[in-house]
Amino acid sequence: MILRAFAEPDRAAVVGLWHEVGLTRPWNDPDKDIDRALTTWPDLFLVAEGGGTPEDDDGGGGRAVVGTALCGYDGHRGWIYYLAVAPSAQGHGIGRALIAEAEARLAALGCPKAMLMVRRGNERAHGFYGGAGYAEDDVATFGKRLIAD
Ligand SMILES: CC(C)(COP(=O)(O)OP(=O)(O)OC[C@H]1O[C@@H](n2cnc3c(N)ncnc32)[C@H](O)[C@@H]1OP(=O)(O)O)[C@@H](O)C(=O)NCCC(=O)NCCS
Repeated sequence: MILRAFAEPDRAAVVGLWHEVGLTRPWNDPDKDIDRALTTWPDLFLVAEGGGTPEDDDGGGGRAVVGTALCGYDGHRGWIYYLAVAPSAQGHGIGRALIAEAEARLAALGCPKAMLMVRRGNERAHGFYGGAGYAEDDVATFGKRLIAD
């Protein structure tokens, strides 16, 4: 498994993965989210690439996108979005590795704290983040849409 920055040929697989694991919503266009991320912190948009196997459609010659983490640094906090691991690859430490790589890249920029939001109803993710050292902050997040997607 390789962790690297997103590259344009990954786009369809990344969007497909986000749909597959239920991270997309009608009001967030994933392609526009990718476009915007690439204009800000392209090195913080991480892709996990898994090894191909002979059972793959391409005979195992190619490597597949098996995970993502889209991150940003606003000068105060680092934010982690779109953490996703393909269902067939879950439970093998890829999510943990993506978080660790995101944290390392944010820390290298001088970012003192990593943040993330978990949608209500995704309580399963709480155990994962708790195990990765994240604690729930006593805050409510507020949002205001500035541009219609
Ligand atoms: C959450 C997610 C990224 C975890 O990825 P993963 O590669 O399966 O996780 P890992 O294999 O790295 O697991 C790391 C640790 O977390 C634990 N863990 C993983 N998923 C867990 C869960 N749902 N609940 C509790 N613990 C969990 C593992 O047991 C492992 O613990 P260990 O190291 O002590 O054995 C993956 O389940 C996923 O893509 N979920 C759907 C998308 C999603 O909800 N993303 C989060 C958005 S906020």
